[in-house]
Amino acid sequence: MKRVLGIYGSGGLGRCINERLPDAEPRFAEVVFIDDTVPEDIFRNRRRMSFASFCERYAPTEADVIIAQGEPALREALYSRVKKAGYVLATILSKGAFVSPYAKVGEGVFVFPGAVVEDNAVVEDDVCIADHAVVAHDVHIGKHVCVEAQSVVPGHVVVGDGAFIGIGALLRDRVRVGAHAVVAMGAVVMRDVPEAVEVMGNPARACRRIDTSQRVFAEYYHGTESGKE
Ligand SMILES: CC(C)(COP(=O)(O)OP(=O)(O)OC[C@H]1O[C@@H](n2cnc3c(N)ncnc32)[C@H](O)[C@@H]1OP(=O)(O)O)[C@@H](O)C(=O)NCCC(=O)NCCS
Repeated sequence: MKRVLGIYGSGGLGRCINERLPDAEPRFAEVVFIDDTVPEDIFRNRRRMSFASFCERYAPTEADVIIAQGEPALREALYSRVKKAGYVLATILSKGAFVSPYAKVGEGVFVFPGAVVEDNAVVEDDVCIADHAVVAHDVHIGKHVCVEAQSVVPGHVVVGDGAFIGIGALLRDRVRVGAHAVVAMGAVVMRDVPEAVEVMGNPARACRRIDTSQRVFAEYYHGTESGKE
């Protein structure tokens, strides 16, 4: 039976996921946006509602959710909320993405067109792999990670839970990126990145320690308390 998909977030990432769906997802009869920061309305020809309304309307037996937030800490908070309410997260591989049949991909993973996930890569739950990003063979991507567009994560790299790999970042093979670390856009990472540290530049250098209690980037955050548990 066809199911309902709730895209949790109607900001930039949510709108992009929405546009990639028609090709990829015949399994959903209806798609709605979930957004706790705006009043209920119609948005991009789809119903948009709070998570509380979503739960009232659709039981976990008939609906799945995909998290559409670029900020790992916010992803993690929403993921916990969705799991606590009993929903399954949908894994969606866009048409035009290549995901090796020998890769292991968890629950709630969205892979954008042009992205590649190679042989023996492991992608844990609640991960976003953006357009034309490369997750190479034997890589391990932790939970709630965002691998942004055109970044390259080569063989045997390990990316810890809640880390963020910015647009166009290049990592050396076999490096380890600590949990909750931020690799800035365009960084060239030659050495291991410690937990909760932001690195930038070529070669990438540590520039800031991340306060993991204040991790939500302002630019991804819609201005209310939604998403924070
Ligand atoms: C790492 C990042 C979060 C830092 O943002 P920020 O804290 O707002 O930093 P600021 O813009 O205040 O810049 C601080 C300094 O770092 C420099 N800087 C910022 N990002 C940089 C980068 N990626 N590479 C090199 N230098 C950078 C700035 O030029 C500035 O230098 P200055 O003090 O000499 O002027 C941001 O640069 C980044 O990479 N964001 C992710 C972008 C992305 O992938 N978005 C995907 C969404 S679609």
